[in-house]
Amino acid sequence: MTDLTVNGQPVRYRLAPETPLLFALRDVSNLTGTKYGCGSGECGACTVHIDGRAVRSCRVPIAQVEGTMVTTIEALSRDRGHPVQQAMVAEGAIQCGFCTAGIVMAASALLAANPQPSDADVAGAITNLCRCGVQPRLVRAIRGVARGDGAILAVPPPGIDPADAAHAIPALSAKP
Ligand code: FES
Repeated sequence: MTDLTVNGQPVRYRLAPETPLLFALRDVSNLTGTKYGCGSGECGACTVHIDGRAVRSCRVPIAQVEGTMVTTIEALSRDRGHPVQQAMVAEGAIQCGFCTAGIVMAASALLAANPQPSDADVAGAITNLCRCGVQPRLVRAIRGVARGDGAILAVPPPGIDPADAAHAIPALSAKP
């Protein structure tokens, strides 16, 4: 058995210790926003936060996450209005969408740890693969969040209440 916290809820998985965290999240907890891509730690589609760090969950045996706090894309923001999500929509950095959740999780962890990343910081932290080729737009989106780009504030994505969006942006975009 493995006890941990997933998206703020205590969870006990009764799985073989070598079971990848990704399978526990998707197949047991039905948190299917986290995607299975390569299964070998290369693509980043399975990225989640473990104690605030971006981790590729396909390569993490469940036994290694005992007592940790895991966050998936479903809990990153209550309204899908996280600044990274808004910025990626505003920049057109979402195409087929398969890799998007992993990229958002990686970018949000980067900005939480380093609110003013350089292009080199972004390149080093966001190694997720995207076959649609959004990387240049992705870098612009992340740098826009780091700048507290007003254009992002002005155009929340469809379905996001502008008041919620305006509330969400300053939390991450505040200068140190
Ligand atoms: Fe985990 Fe590709 S599915 S890195």
